[in-house]
Amino acid sequence: MASSPNLEKNLSLLTPDQVELGMMLLEMGQAHLFDSWPDLGIDDDHKKCFFHQVALLNSSYPGGLASYIKTARELLADSKAGKNPFDGFTPSVPAGEILTFGDDNFIKYEETGVKQVQYTAFVLVAGGLGERLGYNGIKVALPMETTTGTCFLQHYIESILCLSEASCRQAQGECPRDVPLVIMTSDDTHERTLHLLESNAYFGMKSTQVKLLKQEKVACLADNDARLAVDPKDIYKIQTKPHGHGDVHSLLYSSGLLREWKDAGLRWVTFFQDTNGLLFKVIPAALGVSATKGYHVNSLAVPRKAKEPIGGITRLTHADGREMVINVEYNQLDPLLRGTGHPDGDVNCETGYSPYPGNINQLILELGPYIDELSKTSGAIKEFVNPKYKDSTKTAFKSSTRLECMMQDYPKTLAPSARVGFTVSDPWLAYAPVKNNPDDAAKVPKGNPYHSATSGEAAIYRSNNMILRLAGIKVDDPVSQVFNGQEVEIWSRIVWKPKWAVTFADVKRKVSGNSSVSQRSTLVIKGRNVLIEDLSLDGTLVIDSVDDAELKVGGSVQNYGWTIESIDKDDRALPEEMRIRGFKINKLEQLEKSYSEPGKFSLKL
Ligand code: UTP
Repeated sequence: MASSPNLEKNLSLLTPDQVELGMMLLEMGQAHLFDSWPDLGIDDDHKKCFFHQVALLNSSYPGGLASYIKTARELLADSKAGKNPFDGFTPSVPAGEILTFGDDNFIKYEETGVKQVQYTAFVLVAGGLGERLGYNGIKVALPMETTTGTCFLQHYIESILCLSEASCRQAQGECPRDVPLVIMTSDDTHERTLHLLESNAYFGMKSTQVKLLKQEKVACLADNDARLAVDPKDIYKIQTKPHGHGDVHSLLYSSGLLREWKDAGLRWVTFFQDTNGLLFKVIPAALGVSATKGYHVNSLAVPRKAKEPIGGITRLTHADGREMVINVEYNQLDPLLRGTGHPDGDVNCETGYSPYPGNINQLILELGPYIDELSKTSGAIKEFVNPKYKDSTKTAFKSSTRLECMMQDYPKTLAPSARVGFTVSDPWLAYAPVKNNPDDAAKVPKGNPYHSATSGEAAIYRSNNMILRLAGIKVDDPVSQVFNGQEVEIWSRIVWKPKWAVTFADVKRKVSGNSSVSQRSTLVIKGRNVLIEDLSLDGTLVIDSVDDAELKVGGSVQNYGWTIESIDKDDRALPEEMRIRGFKINKLEQLEKSYSEPGKFSLKL
C-alpha cells in the first residue's frame, strides 16, 4: 500500500475520520497531496482545513471521492484512447410532439397543462458561473427586458404563481398546496440569489415555498492518473471546479424533497434555466403534452437547422439491445450519422430543418418514475471529461480538468421501456437565452442566434407581438437595428405581467375589436383584468389596476413615447445591465393610467 511519510508525521493532528480519509487518499494514489507538508507544529490549522475540504468533497459526491477518482481514471483513459461514447449505437429520430402556437391542438394542450401545474414542482438550475456572459452579478438578477426592468427571477416566480392560481381556478378552487420552487445555487451564486429573494419579499412567493439547494464543486484532476490537483496558491487546498447542472438530480434526491413531493400528491418536476425569458410561454402546453402522452421524460426543443450548434434529441439503439433517447451534441451527431449509413450526415428534411430537434435543456419529468430511477442511481448522472491536452501524445493537460455532468443526460440510465419524448415549439415562442457577451455574440456566424442580452430582450418583444398578432391585434412589422455589433429585429415594446395572461387563451379573452400598435410604441399591461378593445396606440401606454378592478381600454393614444437609443458598451459610466445590451430606453412621454379601486371601468382615450 502507498504511504506518505509527511502524512504519517501529522497523524496525531487528525480525528479518526480524518485518518480514514487520509488512508483512502493514499490508497487511491493521492500521496502527492502531502509532498510539501511540513512537520507537525507548522501550519497545523491549515492541515485541518485541508481535511475539512476533503470531507466535503467526499460527502457531496455520490459514492465518495474514491468513486470520483476511479470514474475519472476510466473516463480519462477513454478520452486518451479517443473512444467515442456512442460507438455501437445507431441514431434514429425519436417520437415527439410538434406544437404550432395558437392552433386548436396547442390550446388543448395548454388547458390540460394548466390543470397539471398544481401537481408540479419547479426547479431552476442557477449555479453556473456564466463565464461566457461575463456579467458581474448573478444572471437571474438581470432585467429580462429594460422597458419595465423586471428581472428573470421575478418573472419566473410571478409566472409560477399565476399558473398555479389558474390551475386552482380550473379545479374550481381546490388548491391543496403551494407549488414548490427549488433553486440550485453554487458558491458562486448562493448568497446573491438569497439576497435577491429576501430583499424583494420572494417576489410574492411564500419564503417556505422556495428552497435553495447549493451544489458543491468537484476536485480538479492534474493528469491521466487522476491525481487531484493542488491549488497553485495554497498547498493545503485541492483545486475545485463546477461539476455541471447534472448535480441537480443527486441534490434533489439527497434533500428528501422528491419523497415529500410525492407524498403531497405532486406528479411532475419541471427543470428550467437561468436566462430564458420565453420559457413560461410554452410550459403549460408542454406539461399538457407530458400528461396526455404519459411521458416520463419530456425534453423541450426547438426546430434545428442541420449542423446548427445545438444538441439534437436522438434515439440511440445499440446492437446489444441498449436504447435511449438523449441529447447528442451537434459535433457528435453528424459523424455518428455518417458512420451509420447516412453518407450526408445531419441534413435538413422536407420541413427545411434537421429531423433531430434542438434541445433547449428544459425538462419535464414524471415524479414517480423519476424517484424510482434515482433510488437506483442515488441521482448520479453519467459524467464526461473534457481535458485540453498539451500535445498529440495526450499525456499532459494545459490546465487541470474535472468530471462534469449534465442535467439532460439523466435519461442515459433509463430502461428502454421508459417513455422519453420531446415537445418542439417555435423558437420565437420558447427559447432566447442570455449566455454570450457582446464581443462573442457579434462574432456569431450570420444566421445563428446571438444568445446575448441584446437578442434576449428583442426576443421578448417579438414573442409578445407575435402572440398579440395571432390574437387579432394589428402590430407593425419590426425594423432591423444594430446594437453591440448584432443585427436584431426591433418590434414594438409590448410587455405584460404574468397576471394579465399566462396562456394564449388568457390573451384571447382579453383582446377584442380592432386594435393596432405601431412599431415605435410601448405597451405595458400590469393589471389582471385589463381588456383591450379598439385601441389604437402610437406612443407609450402603461396600464395598471388592482386585481378586483375590470378595466376596458380603447380609443386612440398618441405621444412621443419611449425610444430605443444606442449606447456605447465600453462607456463605464453606464450600468453593466445596459452596456451588455447596447441600448437604453429613453422615456420621453407616456400615458400612464392606474386604477386602485375595485369596480368596472372603461377608459376611452
Ligand atoms: P450554462 O451552460 O449557461 O453554463 O448553464 P453557465 O455556467 O451558466 O455559463 P458559462 O458556461 O460559464 O458561460 C445552463 C444552466 O445551468 C446552470 C446555469 O446556471 C444555467 O441556468 N448551471 C450550470 C448550474 O446550475 N450549475 C453548473 O455547474 C453549471
